[in-house]
Amino acid sequence: MIFDSDVPHITKYMGSKRNILKFVIDNIAEIHRGEEICDLFAGTCILSGALRNTASMHSNDIQNYSSYIAKTYLSNHDWNTYPEDIIDLVINQGQAYKKEIGEKFNKLNFNYENITSLEEFNKLEDDQKCLINETFENTPYHLFIKNYSGTYWSYDQCLAIDAFRKIADDYKETPLHYVIISSIIFAMSYTSQSTGHYAQYRNAKDINSMLDIKKYRIKDFDFYFRRKMEELKSVLSTNNLNHKVTNLDYLDCLKDISTGSTVYADPPYGFVHYSRFYHALETLVNYDYPELKYKGRYRTDRHQSPFSKSKDVRVAFEKMFNKINSKQAQLILSYSSTGMIRLDEIVEIANSSFDFNYDISVKSIDHLHSTMGRSEDKSREVKEYLIIAKRKK
Ligand SMILES: C[S@@+](CC[C@H](N)C(=O)[O-])C[C@H]1O[C@@H](n2cnc3c(N)ncnc32)[C@H](O)[C@@H]1O
Repeated sequence: MIFDSDVPHITKYMGSKRNILKFVIDNIAEIHRGEEICDLFAGTCILSGALRNTASMHSNDIQNYSSYIAKTYLSNHDWNTYPEDIIDLVINQGQAYKKEIGEKFNKLNFNYENITSLEEFNKLEDDQKCLINETFENTPYHLFIKNYSGTYWSYDQCLAIDAFRKIADDYKETPLHYVIISSIIFAMSYTSQSTGHYAQYRNAKDINSMLDIKKYRIKDFDFYFRRKMEELKSVLSTNNLNHKVTNLDYLDCLKDISTGSTVYADPPYGFVHYSRFYHALETLVNYDYPELKYKGRYRTDRHQSPFSKSKDVRVAFEKMFNKINSKQAQLILSYSSTGMIRLDEIVEIANSSFDFNYDISVKSIDHLHSTMGRSEDKSREVKEYLIIAKRKK
């Protein structure tokens, strides 16, 4: 199966299959007979990115940000419909909006340059965190400066997030909307002082941690934003395949797939919920000024996955397999040796759920899995499995 290996990377993501993409696609190719491929738990949509010019994709995830990434990869991008200097134009528009807000709130000036002591640094951080108490009256697009300044990002970086989010809405009727949002997501990922997710931000406890956090505070958001927009523009183009993107619970999505589809399922395998780790991305795309709670400033309407709960995980797999069987679909399931349930249990559930029309088999590969930590134990050796339910004919 031919695939595009140049998929632009959008965000650091727990459980991303980017590093074992070839292994996954080679095994999909062995059972695929030209039908639609449903990526049931798409996350960063790496599979849609790679197969966007090869197969008709249906990308699904319960998190809405995933649908924005999918639409970035799967939309028809005809760059001739925009001015030639569209990237400069978008960046100038974003910077003009930042300037306007910056001037309106000119007393908000948080400069890290001359900070040398821990005390000064923490005061600067705390002053930014206090912006959550401001009303920012008559200022549209103030969600990030109000709620996240001095947390995962600095005030200046939040200003850039809000500004480019506004510009994204100016292009709402075009696929550029998704390109701009994905470029923001990328810049958020590489300027955040947290460790590859947004479960919690770090506090400066001593000079060393202060210096490390400061490195992120002074990162230039616009540089990362431009870099990703340029890459997306150079790689993405038009395609004539009939792709589909949904934002559904996996069982609702399976009701919706065509009979005889191939399903790639990569459910969560740990006890942490994606909605807690990536709440800030959900808030970016929804831009709905949600109620926030706890130190990590999480939105309160977070989804809890049955795959991350030991009492529910078995039934969650049973329901998935039964639904796929009833759709006469085929399955490639990714799971890890560190998952909530053992491989032999999954195979046993598969054997009792799929009927005699299916062959069940397992493949495995060794993989260095990122723990999303910044210091010791950055990665650990795990086995990644593929459990395959192939229709005999
Ligand atoms: C292991 S990640 C998928 C990673 C993805 N394959 C990639 O390479 O980026 C699991 C995904 O399942 C999604 N998820 C969790 N529970 C879900 C549910 N009930 N229905 C649909 N998606 C769900 C999460 O939001 C998360 O993005």
